[in-house]
Amino acid sequence: MKAHRGRLPGGFPEGWPLPPEDEELLEAILARKQALRHELVILAHHYQRPEIVGVGDYRGDSFDLSRKAAATKARHIVFCGVHFMAESAAILAQPHQTVQIPDLHAGCLMADMAALEAVETAWEELAEVTSTAALIPIVYMNSEAALKAFCGSRGGLVCTSSNALAAFRWGLSRGEKIFFFPDRHLGRNTANRLGLAPADHVVWDPEAPLGGNRPEDIRRARLILWDGHCHVHTRFQVDHILAAREAYPEAKIVVHPECTAEVVALADASGSTGFIVNYVKEAPPGATIVIGTEINLVHRLALEYPDRRVLDLAYSLCPNMFKISPAKLLAILEHPGEHNVIAVPGEVQENARLALDRMLALRP
Ligand code: 13P
Ligand code: SF4
Repeated sequence: MKAHRGRLPGGFPEGWPLPPEDEELLEAILARKQALRHELVILAHHYQRPEIVGVGDYRGDSFDLSRKAAATKARHIVFCGVHFMAESAAILAQPHQTVQIPDLHAGCLMADMAALEAVETAWEELAEVTSTAALIPIVYMNSEAALKAFCGSRGGLVCTSSNALAAFRWGLSRGEKIFFFPDRHLGRNTANRLGLAPADHVVWDPEAPLGGNRPEDIRRARLILWDGHCHVHTRFQVDHILAAREAYPEAKIVVHPECTAEVVALADASGSTGFIVNYVKEAPPGATIVIGTEINLVHRLALEYPDRRVLDLAYSLCPNMFKISPAKLLAILEHPGEHNVIAVPGEVQENARLALDRMLALRP
């Protein structure tokens, strides 16, 4: 393989087929990193292409990367992930730091399912049938900054898939109910882990009056779950699990909690992308592990652990994560602190930071 593979700090997997033009781009990226040294940190989400993860300084799930963003002293933070992740890093960064994303259009379809106006309208409607003083808003990291600010200013917090259980416990210890948005599946899976019954939660359809619920159901519910989802994860179906069990009876199946509760119930384990990485790492050599999450992570794990058989439950790619390419990363590194800088308005930043800080202070 080409000489630079061994030098890539993120541990670029051997055997990953790289187009020749990417080889040159990666050389140029490494040269820019060398020139910028401690002024620069590149954070790469686990769903990034292996070549991007390979040149990142840190790889992680969305919680790990938010912690790294809050802790780094580097002047320029380049976030290889989707927009809400870079925006969260910008909220947590110091005023002298800049956060850049290689493609500003790398969004998240699930985050787009809850707009601030719709959530405010829902809150007002809820106030007509229940006390919002006892309603704790919790927003999934996969959301725009304004929603994090909405929660921060109303005594709520942000959570990721790795701390949703702790966040829900936190919420239920402070109020009677949680209003969670935008991922109904993570909400339901977390409710199941808490041992809540189906009658304890309702789904809020933003298109319907009172979210499509009767007032008495809302009054009784402990959780109100916004009707949003991730199409990358709802693609995994019960039939995929049944087929994998038949083909590989010895396999362990691990899925992300953005999958439906039916899929999670049939899997052996579920957790954040960081959890999935550890699950494979801790599996004994020779193990077969079938994974229900974004395909780039599954492929990378298969290359990194050649002595385990790592398989995808089904092919599912996040097109937004895939927008980050070596060419776009290099373009950003050529103009540190200049292009695609994420800016969050002052008041939004302040309240969103409150909600993020509450998450960072959670005990698992
Ligand atoms: P993690 O927090 O598990 O990294 O998940 C982020 C995400 O967008 C999953 O679709
Ligand atoms: Fe958003 Fe789903 Fe992509 Fe994660 S995998 S960034 S939730 S669309």
